[in-house]
Amino acid sequence: MSGNITLRDYLKLQTSKLASTNVQEIKIKSEILVQNHLKLSKADLYLENIEISVKDIKVMDKMFSELSKNKPIQHIIGESYFYDNRFLTPPGVFIPRPETELLVDCAIDFLSKRKSSLTVVDFCSGSGCVLLSVAKKFPNHKYIGIDISDIAIDVAQKNSQFLDLKNVQFIKDDIFNYLSPKADLIICNPPYLATNEIDNLEESVKNHDPIEALTDFKDGTSFYKYLIINFEKLIKKNGAMLLELPFSEVTKNIISFNTDFNNKKSVFFKDLEGKKRVIKIY
Ligand SMILES: C[S@@+](CC[C@H](N)C(=O)[O-])C[C@H]1O[C@@H](n2cnc3c(N)ncnc32)[C@H](O)[C@@H]1O
Repeated sequence: MSGNITLRDYLKLQTSKLASTNVQEIKIKSEILVQNHLKLSKADLYLENIEISVKDIKVMDKMFSELSKNKPIQHIIGESYFYDNRFLTPPGVFIPRPETELLVDCAIDFLSKRKSSLTVVDFCSGSGCVLLSVAKKFPNHKYIGIDISDIAIDVAQKNSQFLDLKNVQFIKDDIFNYLSPKADLIICNPPYLATNEIDNLEESVKNHDPIEALTDFKDGTSFYKYLIINFEKLIKKNGAMLLELPFSEVTKNIISFNTDFNNKKSVFFKDLEGKKRVIKIY
């Protein structure tokens, strides 16, 4: 494509091309892509006379081509917005989901009632979006994120530096082996899909989120069972666990497992659709 095209026309052209693909939410994704690359506000996108350079067109053509193949927008632009902050999320790292913001709300609620300095551990920290969002709100506690993935740890450390947080540490480890000091609060959004659910996922999830972020390669309950069984070893007196739940049979199994196995109290937090999204065990 040659230069001398206005941004408005370029966007129109690209969205009409995408209309013949099976990409969802074309308009919003196209706008995010262009806004991000050209560092513009949304209002700027539709100003009449913005011309774009041949160089920018070349780069954006490549990005639109990736979008047309259903690559997630967060991987194309390399970052995601979560809880009012930007997080690096390159390919190889789980893309934060908006529904996980409830886990942050629950952690903030727990910490807002405490005065002393506490230890908060995020098992399965991924990009660090959950732990860092909490740490940003209460920077004086001690925060530890654990993840099995090298890329996730590297990205989470960069995200921590970017947010200028001092009391946060990310450690590469398998949570099933990690011998942590006891925590006042554990937060966890684990891989919770059963192996047989993977085939039915949308292409953009199945082909781009790391498989070990999605499933426990069993029935989806392994992480919950481990955390529930080891509650006393992992949690200090008056502490709690906050675990994100899936919308599936897995949740029923976890609830009955927790009731049968654990004499701890539990409470659910529901999302905007009224579905149980987070369980607090304390
Ligand atoms: C669903 S993602 C959640 C990431 C992040 N907390 C979020 O909410 O966006 C699950 C994460 O668990 C990590 N993971 C998978 N198996 C693990 C294990 N055995 N020990 C530690 N981390 C693990 C994956 O690498 C992935 O980053």
